[in-house]
Amino acid sequence: MESTNPNRRQVLKTGALAIAAGMAIPSVIPQDTKASAPAGGPYTARDYSGLVGMLGFDEPLLRTHFTLYEGYVKNTNALIAELGEMSKASKSGSVAAAELRRRFGWEFNGMRLHELYFENLGGKDALAADSPLGKAIIRDFGSYAAWETDFKNTGKARGIGWAALVMDGWSGRLFNTWIAEHDGGHLAACPIILIMDVFEHAFIAQYGLKRADYIEAFMKNVNWAAAVKRHG
Ligand SMILES: [Fe+2]
Repeated sequence: MESTNPNRRQVLKTGALAIAAGMAIPSVIPQDTKASAPAGGPYTARDYSGLVGMLGFDEPLLRTHFTLYEGYVKNTNALIAELGEMSKASKSGSVAAAELRRRFGWEFNGMRLHELYFENLGGKDALAADSPLGKAIIRDFGSYAAWETDFKNTGKARGIGWAALVMDGWSGRLFNTWIAEHDGGHLAACPIILIMDVFEHAFIAQYGLKRADYIEAFMKNVNWAAAVKRHG
């Protein structure tokens, strides 16, 4: 795939901010604002259409992905309402309610993981080596290059799910981890710093079975500002 982006690893080594040339700059993208989740109210789907134009992501692929995400928001709200009704009807102990609760983790995470994913895309700057996140990556993985290789390989695992860079909230240690589907393998109390969707719907319409090519495109569009903000 053709790219005009600079070599980010080299940029990181120099400790300088890089400008990824030739990339469309998306319009305003929500940055984990939490604005779509008013307490007590239904969730609303966020608008990520500003991502259209990213190098390596065809518009039909993105539009389909946005629609799929909106389905998770809709189903999350529906499950909240249904479980609420069952509770009011004194049916919260039923087998049906238990199954819906299992399902809730899948739908809610399907919503939230997509929000984290879209909001860590659309970037134009490389990660600064002297940022707290840049320093933590070098500390825990040895180098940015080593981390990137490990992250890409995490995303190449056979199966459907997510590759995520997470931080142990208790120790600050970073891990690249695999999340099976939406709800399997999450590390407790470990906020997500960067996440990459590797469900087939994220790439197959454009890349076929060439997941590695999609992963390369993802890496060229990482919004490191969002990741740095999450890391704190
Ligand atoms: Fe997805």
